[in-house]
Amino acid sequence: MLVNYIITLKSVSIQIINMQDNTFTFDVIIIGSGAAGLGLALSLPSRLQIAIISKSNMSEGSTFYAQGGISAVLDEFDSIEAHKKDTIKAGAGLCHEDTVELVVANGKASIDWLISNNVQFSTNDSSDSNNKLHLTKEGGHSHRRVVHADDSTGRAVQTALNEQVLNQRNIKIFEHHNVIDLITEDDVNSSSSKIIGCYVLDTKKDRIFSMSAPCITLATGGASKVYLYTSNPDVSTGDGIAMAWRAGCRVANMEFMQFHPTCLYHPQAKSFLISEAVRGEGGLLLLPDGSRFMPRFDKRAELAPRDIVARAIDHEMKRLGIESVFLDISHLTPQFTKSHFPMLYKKCLDFGFDMTKDPLPVVPAAHYTCGGVITDKHGSTDIHGLYAIGETAFTGLHGANRMASNSILECLVFAKQASKHIQNYLSDNRKTAIIRPWDDSNVINSDEAIVVSHNWAELRQFMWDYVGIVRTTKRLQRAKNRITLLNKEIEDYYSNFHVTNDFLELRNLAHTAELIIDSALSRKESRGLHYTRDYPELDDKNFKRDTVLKPGRN
Ligand code: FAD
Ligand code: SIN
Repeated sequence: MLVNYIITLKSVSIQIINMQDNTFTFDVIIIGSGAAGLGLALSLPSRLQIAIISKSNMSEGSTFYAQGGISAVLDEFDSIEAHKKDTIKAGAGLCHEDTVELVVANGKASIDWLISNNVQFSTNDSSDSNNKLHLTKEGGHSHRRVVHADDSTGRAVQTALNEQVLNQRNIKIFEHHNVIDLITEDDVNSSSSKIIGCYVLDTKKDRIFSMSAPCITLATGGASKVYLYTSNPDVSTGDGIAMAWRAGCRVANMEFMQFHPTCLYHPQAKSFLISEAVRGEGGLLLLPDGSRFMPRFDKRAELAPRDIVARAIDHEMKRLGIESVFLDISHLTPQFTKSHFPMLYKKCLDFGFDMTKDPLPVVPAAHYTCGGVITDKHGSTDIHGLYAIGETAFTGLHGANRMASNSILECLVFAKQASKHIQNYLSDNRKTAIIRPWDDSNVINSDEAIVVSHNWAELRQFMWDYVGIVRTTKRLQRAKNRITLLNKEIEDYYSNFHVTNDFLELRNLAHTAELIIDSALSRKESRGLHYTRDYPELDDKNFKRDTVLKPGRN
């Protein structure tokens, strides 16, 4: 293979494909095509050549499946202060107030931007002459402030943004391409390194090539697939967090994995989410005997923040030895339920439940990664030219527990923040670099695919059993012993065999799992989403701080 030549760019933007070794060169590479990735691509100027890389098809990510909506202060009785206060309260003492201010203050602008990009949100009844946006409510919010498109907000956002991106000639989309790792080099102007490219597996053609760019953004979503039961799609395997960590970035607060309280309990439902908006509109959580239990746990009852509701459900299920609790909205009129939750109504019917008549069996499942790659308020990471936005990033917004419907908002606000910074960065850093071609001359095809599927299943099972909603030091230590062994096997496999999509995901899940376990072991108190029976109390004196992990120093 021929090596690429250095190309220095001053004023023109480029997309060069070196035919000899298939290196693609762009101004900006965005890894991920959810709200964060597409939000950024559409906020950058069209003079820049942009690549969007997506592991599956463009729509497959958590964004598409978002139900409840996007929080923004639009109601005349609501205020930025109230939204900030609710977010900080849910975050149990660890939210960064400057980040909360930044995100919340940009709520209305983000909704306006989505509307200008053709996202159709639900409006109030036609009897309202202003036809204002309908606002729903979710746990932790003191006001109605969740803008939504019925119960399929994510589909509306993803579909509209896909369409906009597909119309831009400066944006090239690589679907079914899995980014394996980031490529960095020493930055001669500072002690840290800078990004120069990434290696990519074309999963359809089973071919690996490199891509180069002075700017790369990780918009790869969360890591909830690390658990056996999750509301997330298959692509949520923590790739951005694992890649950034391997490249030398710090990560923070990985112990705060959020479990959504209400996923449908049905063998074929794959933890299908029943939106918190159902509780926001009056849905009640019941035990098998029909009695409510949430008022015993919190005065906000069904609308307490998620950590509290998920833990209460887990407690009741274990106390009574039951397989699920029930979510009941049958006291509302069928017309209301069908018009507010048309997708949920239909999907539940497919599984044999009529939510206008029957309580739905529900259980908690892993839902959101509050920790991630540490960034500043521009989305910049520890590596020059490398940005992280959306669920993969740690911005300080969520603290120890994310408030419902704050995350798509965070994706959009940080997409805008990063777009401004990237433009400045590019004006001084348009040089592309030599990338060493991917070398797989010493590896062979695996004859043991069972190793990957076995380790994948084992990892997700022990994470569920030992690092779940309720933790103990002994369980975490067990998980640590297993993950150490698993990571060793995975590294051996990586050195000896050709990589596949499944193997790359397993490697990223295992690296992310170790970060979760290490973070959980280090927090010797209970706060927000991290609850350990060995330290059941808050310990503000010693632990009112983020858990920061540094590569090579743990
Ligand atoms: P995603 O939308 O998850 O996109 C990740 C992208 O990265 C995908 O395109 C994926 O293919 C790509 N990718 C990952 N790894 C690689 C790799 N190695 N190479 C190439 N590409 C890669 N939040 C709200 O605010 N409101 C809600 O109502 C809401 N409801 C939700 C309901 C469900 C069922 C779920 C699962 C989540 C919900 N959330 C909600 C959370 C919210 O949807 C996500 O946090 C948010 O959409 C994440 O957006 P993102 O762009 O960061 O990542
Ligand atoms: C939901 O609709 O319950 C999900 C909302 C969220 O995760 O923000």
